[in-house]
Amino acid sequence: MVDLSTSIGGVPLSTCIYNASGPRTGSSAAMAKIAASRSGCVLAKSATVSSQTGNDQPRTWHEENGKASLNSEGLPNNGIDYYIDSKTISETLGDSNKPYMVSISGKTLVDNLLMLGKISNVMKADPSIKIAGVELNLACPNIVGKPTIGYDFDQMEDVLKQVTSLPCFKGSAMFPLGIKMPPYFDRPHFEHAASILNKYKSCISYVASINTIGNALAIDSVAEMPCIRAKGGFAGLSGPAVKYTALANVKQMRELLDESIDVVGVGGVANGIDAFEMILCGASAVQVGTCHWTEGPSCFDRMCSELEGIMREKGYNSIDDFRGKLKEWSKEGAALSRSAKLATKSIGDGGVSTAKQGTDSNSILIAVLFAVIAILLADKFNLMEL
Ligand code: DHB
Repeated sequence: MVDLSTSIGGVPLSTCIYNASGPRTGSSAAMAKIAASRSGCVLAKSATVSSQTGNDQPRTWHEENGKASLNSEGLPNNGIDYYIDSKTISETLGDSNKPYMVSISGKTLVDNLLMLGKISNVMKADPSIKIAGVELNLACPNIVGKPTIGYDFDQMEDVLKQVTSLPCFKGSAMFPLGIKMPPYFDRPHFEHAASILNKYKSCISYVASINTIGNALAIDSVAEMPCIRAKGGFAGLSGPAVKYTALANVKQMRELLDESIDVVGVGGVANGIDAFEMILCGASAVQVGTCHWTEGPSCFDRMCSELEGIMREKGYNSIDDFRGKLKEWSKEGAALSRSAKLATKSIGDGGVSTAKQGTDSNSILIAVLFAVIAILLADKFNLMEL
C-alpha cells in the first residue's frame, strides 16, 4: 500500500498535497470544497485585521498556454475574525477532521501581532476551536508602498523577534507557526534568510517556499498596456513557469534550515511528478496554488493519485522513502533516464504497426550514422574548434 501521509510542524496530514493560501480560500463555501477533496489540510486566505476588497480589477491574468499566471489582488479577504470564527471553521470542515490552518499577512508588524493575539485569545476562550496552525506571510509583493518583508532582512528579523516574543509562543507554543517566504535567487540571500529563521527555530515549525515571483509584468501588445491594472501592472508570477525557482528554493532551504523546521514546497506544482520532485528536494508537504485556481479542488484528487502511481512504479511505500533524497548527477543516472524514455516511447508506439516501427528505427539509425560521419569529418578538418 502506498501511503501519502506526512506531518508538518507535528501536525499530521492524511496526504502530503494541500492548498496554498490564495485562490479559492476566501470563504467557508470555497474552503469546504477543499475539505471534501483529498487535500491533506485546508489553509485559509491570507487575512488582514479588517476585511478589505483589494486592488481594482483586472488584477489577475493567465497566459493562454497555461504556463504562467499573474495576480495583484491586494489582499482581498474577510478579515481575521472571520477566519478564526467557529462557524467559519465548522462550515469549512463539515464532517472532515483534517487540519484547518489560517494565514496572516498584516499590513504592519503591529497588525500581525494583533492577529496572533486574536488567534490565541479565541483558542484560549474555546479550546474546541480547531486551528491547527498559523502561516505568517512575509512574502506578499502586491501592496502599494509596502516592500516584501522577506527581502528586507532587518525588518524580517524584527518581525520574527517580536512575533516569537508573544506569550502564545512562550513555553510550549499554542499552535505551530509556519513562515511563507518569497523566492530567493542567490546563495548569500538563502544563507542570510535561513540564518535568521534558524535563530527562531524554537518557535518556527515550518517554512513554505515560495510565494509568487514578485513584480512581473505581462503586456497586452494590442492595446500597448499592462494586462493588470494595479501597481502599474507589476504583479506576482505563478504557475508552471515558477516551478524551477520553487524547487531550487526548497532544496536550498532544506539544506540550510535546522532539521527541526519542516519545509513545505509551493510554486508551479500542477501534477504528481511536480509534487514528487518537490519531495525529492526535501519538502515534507506540497502546496498547490495556481493549479487549484484554474482547475478547482479536484486537482488534489488527481495529483494524489498521480503521486501514488509514481510511488507504486518506483517501489516507494511512503514519502519518507524518497524525501530529500535527490541524487547527484551521474552518467549512470543519465543512461537510466535515456533508456526509460526509449522504453516509454516504444510503449507509446504500442498500437503502431511493426512495419512503421521498423521504418522509425531505420530512420533513427540513419540519423545516428549521419551524425557520427559529420563528427568524424568535422574532427578531421578541425572544424570542432569553433
Ligand atoms: C496577495 C498576493 C500574495 O502573493 C500573497 O501572498 C498574499 C496576498 C494578494 O495580492 O492578494
